[in-house]
Amino acid sequence: MKKIAVKKKVVKKTTVKKKKDLGYKIYTPRANKLDKNNVIFIPDLHAPFIKDGVLDWIKEEQKRYNCGTVIFAGDIIDGHAWSYHESDPDGLSVGDELQAAREQLKPWFKAFPEAISLMGNHDLLIQRKARTIGLSKHFIKGFGDVIGAPKGWKFDIEYVKDNVLYKHGNVGTAFKVAKESRISTCQGHFHAETYVQWSVSEKDAIFGMQVGWGADRHAYAFDYGKPFAKKPVISCGLILDRGKTPIVKLMPI
Ligand SMILES: [Fe+2]
Repeated sequence: MKKIAVKKKVVKKTTVKKKKDLGYKIYTPRANKLDKNNVIFIPDLHAPFIKDGVLDWIKEEQKRYNCGTVIFAGDIIDGHAWSYHESDPDGLSVGDELQAAREQLKPWFKAFPEAISLMGNHDLLIQRKARTIGLSKHFIKGFGDVIGAPKGWKFDIEYVKDNVLYKHGNVGTAFKVAKESRISTCQGHFHAETYVQWSVSEKDAIFGMQVGWGADRHAYAFDYGKPFAKKPVISCGLILDRGKTPIVKLMPI
C-alpha cells in the first residue's frame, strides 16, 4: 500500500493576552528569538514589594524593542526585615519576607530564564550580615539559590557588553561614573533618577543611563521615603544597536 507523506502544519505560537487596564496587548516574549545585540536593562525590583503591572510592562518593552539580552540592575530583593536600618515590627518576619520575595519573583524567572543580574546593596545585605557576625562567605548559600533563580541567571558586580558598563551603582550616578571612567555606563540604585545623558569629546561619545525602580513606593518598607518631595520613578533602559542607541522608558501609570 502506498504511503502518503503527511506534512505537519507548523503553527507559530505567540502568547497574546489583552489586558484592558493597561490598554495594550501583553506578549510572552521568546527571548531566544530576539536580537542579542539589544539589551533591556531592568531596574531595582525590591521583591516582595514589586509594583503590580511592572512585569507585564517590561515584557512588552522587551518585545517592542527586540531585546534578546536581559540585564537586571540589582536589588532584586529588598531585605527590609534583615536590613541594618530599623525594620517595621508590624511587617513581615525575615523568613516570611524571603518566602514572599521568592514567590513574587517566580513569574519573573519564568519570563526571563536567562539573565545577568548585578548585585545591589540590598542583595549583598546577606553577605554583610554574615560578615558582621564573623561568618566566612563559604558558609553562605549562593544568592541565586537564596532567591530561587534558574540556572540561566548569572550574578556579578559589573558586566560589560559592547563597550557599555552595567552596574548597580552605589557611588555616583551613571553620568558622573561614565564621564570619569570614559565608558558608557548604565545603573540603577538612585530610585528617583532616570535619564540618558551624553558626553562628547574629540575622542569619544559616551552616555550615562539611570533607570529608577520597579517597586511600589506605598509599601511599608519604603516609609522612609514619604517625607521627600522627589519620588521614585518606574523606568527601564533599552540599549540597542550593540550599545550605540540608549533609550529610557517610563512605565505609563
Ligand atoms: Fe534599590
